[in-house]
Formats: sequence, structure tokens, C-alpha cells
Amino acid sequence: MAIKTIKDVNLAGKRVFVRCDFNVPLTDGMISDDSRIVAALPTIQHLVGQGARVILASHLGRPKGERNAKYSLAPVAEDLATKLGQPVTFIEDCIGAEVEAEVAKMGDGDIVLLENVRFYAGEEKNDSEFAAALAKLADAFVNDAFGTAHRAHASTAGVAAHLSPNVCGFLIEKELAYLGDKTANPERPFTVILGGAKVSDKIKVIDALLEKADTIIIGGAMAYTFALAEGRTVGESLSEPDFIATAKAALQKAQEKGVKFLLPVDNLAVKDLDFGAGTVGEAQFFEGNIPDGWEGVDIGPKSIELFKAEVATAKTVLWNGPMGIFEIDACNQGTFAVAKTIAESEGISIIGGGDSVKAIKMSGYSDKVTFMSTGGGASLEFLEGKDLPGVAALDQI
Ligand code: 3PG
Repeated sequence: MAIKTIKDVNLAGKRVFVRCDFNVPLTDGMISDDSRIVAALPTIQHLVGQGARVILASHLGRPKGERNAKYSLAPVAEDLATKLGQPVTFIEDCIGAEVEAEVAKMGDGDIVLLENVRFYAGEEKNDSEFAAALAKLADAFVNDAFGTAHRAHASTAGVAAHLSPNVCGFLIEKELAYLGDKTANPERPFTVILGGAKVSDKIKVIDALLEKADTIIIGGAMAYTFALAEGRTVGESLSEPDFIATAKAALQKAQEKGVKFLLPVDNLAVKDLDFGAGTVGEAQFFEGNIPDGWEGVDIGPKSIELFKAEVATAKTVLWNGPMGIFEIDACNQGTFAVAKTIAESEGISIIGGGDSVKAIKMSGYSDKVTFMSTGGGASLEFLEGKDLPGVAALDQI
């Protein structure tokens, strides 16, 4: 499905409702990671350059339909103004007569940022009256909130019924290109590295990527369920015995499709893990089986070498999900080694959002990869092959 982008339309002089994903982490009211703001700039700058009246909207956190100062977008307006080098007027509401009056004062090229759309319950319910109230502010809709495109909410999908044209911005266009086209028609060999805690969370992605990849590498706690499927023991490691059959089916499918399926051959296992304190007790590497009393927390050095060799020959690498509990120093070597290997790879490297983006940033290699998704849940659902409501609502070519 080809959707219209802002390059297909001229929005000069128009009031444009631009949905961004400014759901950024705040620490003591300060933005601690501005990646999503930086990622929204090209679309905003393009619209300003064209002479559009730019009405920015977003959610922040999960305020559950109630006004809550903790989730105000005010710090984002300040940060945007600094980054853009022009005023960004913050409006302390997102619908109603006062907001309409502020918008009526805008000139071509001006920017306003509305207050958090999730201060109204109608947002997450995709309430048509709330969507109409938002749409009343504008003529056209630009959706650039990839991170929220998997939500059918009033500001991501509902508004489109009231506005025209409805197009995507540069960020959504780029996300769809990297997570979509470049993985559907990849330069081969195409190696996928999947990690994270649960097979149940990732099985649809594994299934979808088994249709496209040449090699799938599995790490993280998810690998312990696969180990059980292969008849190995995993000690006290996190696993999902109810999903052993699912893991076996994935292994079978890989064999039928001729997809190389690599599991860790060794693991770091520990005793007395305390996630809150970030500490572990006794630690040891095990090849094959993990004995009772030990909990697997990372891949081991032999697995790192095995995965490295595979990534080295790949022309496209997609990574989603850490190899271990990378938040704890003693357990982050596997994840950081994978990050380094991907950063050094000469092929196209795509980091599929969420924890893997966090991990590659922590490892210091984020500027060495081709593309990092701004979506967590959205990138996962898109990789599963699901339609994203925030994209489906837009005009098709
Ligand atoms: C995200 O951070 O994944 C998006 O902004 C979506 O947020 P949500 O999970 O609260 O809908």
C-alpha cells in the first residue's frame, strides 16, 4: 500500500495538524532522551519552509484521560524552539474555543504545540467528537508519529475522517522504508537478530521474518524456551514451558524454508540476581545445559563469536531485542558485543526499536548504524506484518 507523503502535497498557507510522537522520557522535568524530537524536525522544518501553519500534537505518558502536570508537553515546546531556532507557542489545552482563538492568530510558518492529547479520555477511545474538535483547528493532517501509529486513537487515526489531505511526514516514510521495504526486499544475505524475554511476545515476528531472512539468530531469555524445545536444561532461567511447542514449530519452519536458525551455544549464568540493586552473586559460563540453581542472564563468548561471524557476512542486518539483562553491568557483554558487531558491519544495519535502541545507545555505537527506529510496540507490530491504524488512515496514491 503506497501512501501519500508531504512531498506529494503543497500545504502553504494551510493550517496543518501534525501528529508527532513526543513521548520522551523525562527525569525531574528534563528531557533525558530527545531522539524522538530530533526525528520530527525534518517534517516540521519542511512545513515551516513551505509556509504552512504548523499545529503540533502528541501524547506524553499515560495520564489516563485526566489533566496531570507531570505529563505536560511544555518542556518539549521549549526544546523544539531551541532546536528550530524559532518560537514554538505552547497552548495549555488541545481543544476548545481558547485553542481555536490562539490558532486563528497564527501566521504562515508559525508553530504551536498543543497540550497532551491524552488529557482527554476521547483520545484513546478514538471518540469521534474529540477527533472532530481536534480537526476543527486545521485543514490538513500530517501524521509523523510512527511510535504511536499502532494505536487507533483520535489524533493518530480519527482526525483523518475530518481533514484533507491526510499524508505522512518524513519520519513515517523513513520508518516504513527501513522496517518495510528494506526487509521485504533485502540485500542478501539478510540476518535477523532477535532477543528479549518472551517467545510469546516475539513469535509473530519470528514467523513473519522466517519468510524473509536467510539467517535468524535468537538471544535473550527467549532462547531458553528454544533450548527446552531442543531438549536442553535451563536451570532457573526465565522460560515459557507453555511455548515449547511454538518454539519447536518455528525450528521446523526454519528447516523447511532453509533458513539458518542459530541459538546460543553457551551462556553466562548466575546465582542471586537482584535486578533492583543491579547485582549478581556467583557467575559462571555454561556450554549447552544450564544446571539447576543457575539462571541464564547473557550469551557467552562462544555464542558471541558465532553470531559475529554470521553478521560479518550479512548485507542487511535487523536487530530487535537484547541478548541478556543488559541493564545490569555484569550481564551486558553479549548485548554490547552484538551492538559493536552490528555497528562494524558493512551492510545495512537496522535497529528495530525499543530495548535494542536503548542498548545500542548505552553501548556508544548508535551513530554507526544505518537506521534506528523510533517505535517500540509500533515497530514490532509492523514487523509482524500488521496494518498500522495511523498509516491506514492516510490517503493512498
Ligand atoms: C511508545 O512510547 O511506545 C509510544 O509513544 C506509544 O505509547 P503507548 O504505549 O503509551 O501508547
